[in-house]
Amino acid sequence: MVRLRVPDIAKKKRQKEKVAMLTAYDFPTAALLDQAGIDILLVGDSLGMAVFGNETTISVTLEDMIRHTRAVSRGARRALVVADMPFLTYQCGRARAVRNAGRLLSEGGAAAVKLEGGRAVSSTVRRLTEVGIPVMGHLGLLPQSVHQTGGYRKQAVSQEGKRRLLEEARILERAGVFALVLEAVPDEAALEVTRELSVPTIGIGAGPHCDGQVLVSHDAFGLTCGDVPSFVKSYARIGEAILEAARTYIEEVRSGQFPPARRFQSPDTGQPER
Ligand code: KIV
Repeated sequence: MVRLRVPDIAKKKRQKEKVAMLTAYDFPTAALLDQAGIDILLVGDSLGMAVFGNETTISVTLEDMIRHTRAVSRGARRALVVADMPFLTYQCGRARAVRNAGRLLSEGGAAAVKLEGGRAVSSTVRRLTEVGIPVMGHLGLLPQSVHQTGGYRKQAVSQEGKRRLLEEARILERAGVFALVLEAVPDEAALEVTRELSVPTIGIGAGPHCDGQVLVSHDAFGLTCGDVPSFVKSYARIGEAILEAARTYIEEVRSGQFPPARRFQSPDTGQPER
């Protein structure tokens, strides 16, 4: 099994191969997605919502991310593991960002980090890549800025918004990102950025023209409690399967059907005994 590396992801764009990325937060899911052939496992800070049940990603800590990244890394044999840098781990100075990103690699086992924003974080992106930490960018809807934007809304809708998206994407590319997530932007804006950049774009709610796609696996596989974004395709109904299995188990325990009676052999007589 040959492990995918950061340069392999860039190569996929040159070879016009789409990149498939999904989020994972634990060992068994990572192992299954890896076995299925996923290219990138993103330990997203969506952890805070998908796994911890919070309303936003903002309370996720570096320690949370390191622990879950370590579990995912253990399950990934081929996939590239990318870990999100949580809120306030990269906005408070470049030296702190390097230390925190470094921990996601050295303790979490990630091969790269992802952080949100454009111009405002470009000098941090440059510093991280200078010291050998690969960075995936993230533009469009920025969940860590939800209090500023006032909700999870489509971005880059106006002409000015599209122009700014393209400008920030160029800035990030110059700063050294190896790939760029575009979240909740119009298809044509994603197309323009994808044409303009030499690094792959990975879309989520950004239409079909990106070089790759990412979904939150809990949304795609039916494990999300509550609403999922309208662009999500449902690939499985794992939540319903768990519900049905749990109901059957409860019924069988209550009725005495589980566990079944076992017969033991007496060591003295060799006869079955109860
Ligand atoms: O945290 C996350 O899962 C993400 C994806 C939505 C790209 O950043």
